Amino acid sequence: MSDVKFFYGNEVPLEMHKVRIVQKLNLIPVDQRKQAIAEAGNNTFLLQNKDVFLDMLTDSGVNAMSDKQLAAMMEADDSYAGSATFTKLENKIEEIFDKKYFLPAHQGRACENIISQTFVRQGSVVPMNYHFTTSKSHIIVNGGHVEELIRDDGLKVNSDLPFKGDMDLVKLRTCIEQNGAENIAFVRMEAGTNLIGGQPVSLKNLKDTYQLCKEYGIILVYDASLLSDNLYFIKTREDAYKDKSIREITKEIAEYTDIIYFSARKLGSARGGGICTNNLEYFNKMKGLVPLYEGFLTYGGMSVREMEAMTVGLEETMDFEMINQGPQFISYMVNELNKKGIPVITPPGGLGCHLNAMEFVKHIPQEQYPAGALAAAVYIAGGIRGMERGTISEERNPDGSERLADMELLRLALPRRVFTLSQVNYAIDRITWLYENRNLIEGLTFDEEPAILRFFLGRLKPVSDWQDKLAEKFKADFGDSL
Ligand code: F0G
Repeated sequence: MSDVKFFYGNEVPLEMHKVRIVQKLNLIPVDQRKQAIAEAGNNTFLLQNKDVFLDMLTDSGVNAMSDKQLAAMMEADDSYAGSATFTKLENKIEEIFDKKYFLPAHQGRACENIISQTFVRQGSVVPMNYHFTTSKSHIIVNGGHVEELIRDDGLKVNSDLPFKGDMDLVKLRTCIEQNGAENIAFVRMEAGTNLIGGQPVSLKNLKDTYQLCKEYGIILVYDASLLSDNLYFIKTREDAYKDKSIREITKEIAEYTDIIYFSARKLGSARGGGICTNNLEYFNKMKGLVPLYEGFLTYGGMSVREMEAMTVGLEETMDFEMINQGPQFISYMVNELNKKGIPVITPPGGLGCHLNAMEFVKHIPQEQYPAGALAAAVYIAGGIRGMERGTISEERNPDGSERLADMELLRLALPRRVFTLSQVNYAIDRITWLYENRNLIEGLTFDEEPAILRFFLGRLKPVSDWQDKLAEKFKADFGDSL
C-alpha cells in the first residue's frame, strides 16, 4: 500500500485487497435516526444494527476476514477434547511468539478474568501504561488497584510524539518503591493503547519496562489485542526497526514479556482469545480456571471454526501488506479532519479516528458527558455509530461522585478492510457539517445507570430538545438528502 505513488499527486491509501462478499447497508432518514437514538437511550451500544449506516462502534469481531480464513474454517476438526485445530493454533502461537504454553479463552476479557483471579489479591497494585475498561474492572473486582503510569505527554491531545502509549519509567520505579515489589501483582503493558486513541508503545519502551520489572522480580503482562496496529507503527515510526520484518518485531516484543494475552476479536480478525507464556508455574496456576469458566483446554469457549480462522489471521498479521490498511485509512481520516480544523487526536493512531469532544463541544460540561452527546449527534447527522470513550466509560468513585475521564473522545473505529474510502469521505462530510453546527449540541444525563461498566447498558436522555433542533437544521441544509 505504502509503496504505490500516484503520478498526479492526491495521494490516497490504496487497498491491496479486493472485496468479494458484500453486505447491503441501510441509511434511514434523519427523523428516524433521531427516534432510533432516543429509543436506544442515547447509548450507541443499544442501537439496532438495521438503523446504522456506518458501524464504527468497534473493530472487535467485525474486521473483514480473508478468503484463506474462510477456507480454513471449512476444515476445522470438531472435537471437545484433543482437537487438531487447537494443536494448529497452539503451534502458530509458539511459532509467532516463541511461547510454549497456550490457554484458550472465549475473548480478551476472559483472559483478564483468569490473569486477575490468579495474580491479584486484596490490596494488590497493578501499574500499567493505561487502563482498558474490562482489564481495570477485573483487577478491581479481585481487590486490586490500578496505577496508570503513562508518560505525561501521552495524554496531550495534539502532539507529534510517535509513541504516546509509552510507560513513564521514572513513575514506574517510584510506584514499585512506594508500594513494595511484593505488592505488585504484575505490570500490564497495553499495545495500541485503546482509550487514549489507539496510541502505540515503542519496542524500546517495552524492553526498558521489562528490564525494570526483572530488577524487582515483577511479572510483565502484555495485552496484545491491538498488536497489529502497534506492529505497523514500530516498523514505520521506530527507526531501529524499519528494516526488520513484522515477524522479527513480533518475536522481539514477545521476548520482553512474561505473559501475553489477546482478544482475537481484534488480533487475528476472528473471535476468541488466549493467553501464552513460557513459565510453567504461571501456566499451571492459570490452567484450572479455563475449564471452570471457558471450556475444555483444547477450545476454551471458542468454536473450532474460529480457531482455524484465528490461526490463519495470526499468520496474516505477520504480513505488512495485510496490517497496513487500518492505520493508513485512519491516518487519511484524521489528517483530512485535522486540515479542516476539526479537533481530532494526533498523531493518528490505530483502531479508529478519535474526535476530541472536550474541544469539539467545549460548551458542554464534563458532567453532561460531551463525548456521549457527540456520539448521539454524529449518529443523528450521518447514521454513523461511534463509541463514547470518556466519562461515561469510567465508573463512579466509591463515594458516588463522578470520576471525570482524562479525555473525552468519540471513537470512530475503522474495522480492518471493511469500509471504502468513499464511506470514509461521507463520514468526514457529515462530521464537518456537525462541527459547523456544534453549538446546537447539548449534554446528556443518566436515566438508568448500572453500577459496573455502565457504558454498555446505561440509558441517557438529552438535557433539552437539542436533538429536535439538530434534525431540523439538517433538513434545512440537506433538503431531500438522507
Ligand atoms: N484489551 C484491549 C486493549 C481491548 O481493546 C479489548 C476490547 C479487550 C482487552 C477485551 O477484549 O472485547 O475480546 O473481551 N476492546 C473492544 C473495543 C471491546 O471495542 O475496543 P474482548
